[in-house]
Amino acid sequence: MMDTFIFFILFWVSIFQSIEVLNANCSDARPEIRFPFQVKGQQSQHRNTSGSFELICKENTTTIHFPSYGNLVVESISYKTKKLNLLDPNNCIHEVFLNLNLNLTPFQYYYVLRNYTYLNCSASLSPLSFTEIPCLRSSNYHFYTVDPSLHVPLSCTPVKTVAIPFGYSPYLSDNTFGLALTWDLPDSEDCKTEHQAENFYITSNNTVLSISICILAVATAILSVKIHYNKKLFHQEGDILMKLTG
Ligand SMILES: *[C@@H]1O[C@H](CO)[C@@H](O)[C@H](O)[C@H]1NC(C)=O
Ligand SMILES: *[C@@H]1O[C@H](CO)[C@@H](O)[C@H](O)[C@H]1NC(C)=O
Ligand SMILES: *[C@@H]1O[C@H](CO)[C@@H](O)[C@H](O)[C@H]1NC(C)=O
Ligand SMILES: *[C@@H]1O[C@H](CO)[C@@H](O)[C@H](O)[C@H]1NC(C)=O
Ligand SMILES: *[C@@H]1O[C@H](CO)[C@@H](O)[C@H](O)[C@H]1NC(C)=O
Ligand SMILES: *[C@@H]1O[C@H](CO)[C@@H](O)[C@H](O)[C@H]1NC(C)=O
Repeated sequence: MMDTFIFFILFWVSIFQSIEVLNANCSDARPEIRFPFQVKGQQSQHRNTSGSFELICKENTTTIHFPSYGNLVVESISYKTKKLNLLDPNNCIHEVFLNLNLNLTPFQYYYVLRNYTYLNCSASLSPLSFTEIPCLRSSNYHFYTVDPSLHVPLSCTPVKTVAIPFGYSPYLSDNTFGLALTWDLPDSEDCKTEHQAENFYITSNNTVLSISICILAVATAILSVKIHYNKKLFHQEGDILMKLTG
């Protein structure tokens, strides 16, 4: 009886643990973190996590680190559409576009890209034809995004031509659009099965819970019937013994 009880307690604890390990988040209001993401420093014992990407929990904020740029804030994650919405903590999306190198990462921009050339100009260009990127300006230099085919004005040097979702526009406030990435897992067989197993765990967590509730209920019922029956038998035997001896 005690053994069975302990077994069920362990069973429950392990179920709750496995759910906790698979789903995490940095704070209440932050996105749920599950495969293929994981919280840095929180290694799961249940699986090989080599195919996952690390997110950092820092002061209740979820961030992701890119060596070419630095930390970006993870605003939301859509596992269905494989979309990672990011915010630039410096609120200068064109500084991100200019520096972020996704080549050696599993990430790509989510939206369709176009090539733009960043110009660094020692004099400001006509505001009628060009819009300066305010957050990149320094006291003597002015930055613009232009079509790569544009003849470069004399006061400017092209810094870089990059494929990005959009050029600078004062109408697109920096953080509302565009810093969305999508990811691509290496297509090895290992990762596929890992991914499927993961999906099974996650989608079936409520099923697992309800099945275990059923098992617990049935087991309790069987045990109590057994105990009751044994007691009855014991009493009957006692009665017979009394009659025989008495
Ligand atoms: C995020 O964490 C909080 C506190 O630990 C928890 O109450 C909440 O359910 C979690 N949300 C998700 C989506 O996991
Ligand atoms: C995890 O998977 C990688 C490749 O998918 C493999 O090289 C590594 O040995 C695995 N680690 C364990 C502990 O199974
Ligand atoms: C993080 O969240 C906890 C609990 O919700 C709160 O007490 C703490 O002040 C928060 N820290 C920051 C830096 O927001
Ligand atoms: C951007 O330019 C490069 C080099 O000319 C070219 O290979 C690439 O396909 C272009 N990308 C887009 C999205 O037009
Ligand atoms: C812009 O150009 C000036 C002069 O060539 C240079 O000193 C400065 O570092 C450049 N800025 C960037 C971000 O490339
Ligand atoms: C898994 O469990 C979590 C927390 O109990 C819940 O928020 C989530 O909706 C569940 N997922 C499914 C697919 O039932």
